[in-house]
Amino acid sequence: MSGLADTTLQLNSGARIPQVGLGVWQTPSGAATRQAVAAALDAGYRHVDTARIYGNEADVGAAVREGAVARAELFVTTKLWNADQGYDPARRAFDASLARLGLDYVDLYLIHWPVAGKRLESWRALERIHADGRARSIGVSNFLVPHLEELLGAAKQVPAVNQIELTPFLQRRDTRALCDRHGIVIEAYSPLTRGQRLNHPVVADVARRVGRSGAQVLLRWGVQHRLVELPKSTRPARIAENGALFDFALDDRAMNELDGLEEGLVTGWDPAEQA
Ligand SMILES: NC(=O)c1ccc[n+]([C@@H]2O[C@H](COP(=O)([O-])OP(=O)(O)OC[C@H]3O[C@@H](n4cnc5c(N)ncnc54)[C@H](OP(=O)(O)O)[C@@H]3O)[C@@H](O)[C@H]2O)c1
Repeated sequence: MSGLADTTLQLNSGARIPQVGLGVWQTPSGAATRQAVAAALDAGYRHVDTARIYGNEADVGAAVREGAVARAELFVTTKLWNADQGYDPARRAFDASLARLGLDYVDLYLIHWPVAGKRLESWRALERIHADGRARSIGVSNFLVPHLEELLGAAKQVPAVNQIELTPFLQRRDTRALCDRHGIVIEAYSPLTRGQRLNHPVVADVARRVGRSGAQVLLRWGVQHRLVELPKSTRPARIAENGALFDFALDDRAMNELDGLEEGLVTGWDPAEQA
């Protein structure tokens, strides 16, 4: 039976990406991050999503290097922060991230945010990093339709993924349609609405019907839409719960009810405001 460790999506780079990854934004550096990653590996996760700005790359790298799972079976993502955008700064920032991680390569390197006037030069740096084999796949984050159209008009390489906030309450249908047309996989960040809609009556009703938690219902909705889901928790029991998504399914009625929850809920920064 396929499960957390072997449920993957195909990327345009040729690599495959595990469909559920542990997010570590706001997970404190040090033992908290190392323990969260270790708990995730124990639970069967094979994918961790960090970033320069999260301040915990070194701990993610330590947990990956010291864990029992072979590097080749793991998928590690980090991201280029805004202050480091531009061609030369991006290449230096990547070197520094890789050094902090203590790895020979990352599976995915993302432009964290579409910084105006810099993002195309940053993308050129990522293309170079990919060509050098040090990032197996490259992509973007927080790129909506105007940012993607600009990039696709200039890029040699189509991004493998676009990581955006995505839940039943914020569905970004136009961005998803454009990404589908170009074979760009969508990664859903803040997939638990940062806790804000876990007890929404529709979510709670679906959860009751399938005998699962509200968190699992939100994540399973994304899995069935062929999104990569990136839930964050520091608690081992919740990390396991958030990965237990492949032994149940939502029926058409439940999917339709969840699809009907769009309300434009942005819990973080809204890239629609970025020119
Ligand atoms: N690219 C970007 O700009 C960007 C932006 C935001 C996030 N992200 C990525 O997406 C990841 C996840 O997003 P997020 O951290 O914003 O939010 P999230 O995963 O939607 O929600 C995390 C919150 O939910 C709680 N939680 C986790 N599992 C739970 C469960 N089963 N039941 C109840 N509560 C639960 C967590 O608390 P505990 O930790 O106490 O369990 C935490 O407060 C990040 O860690 C990061 O990797 C990327």
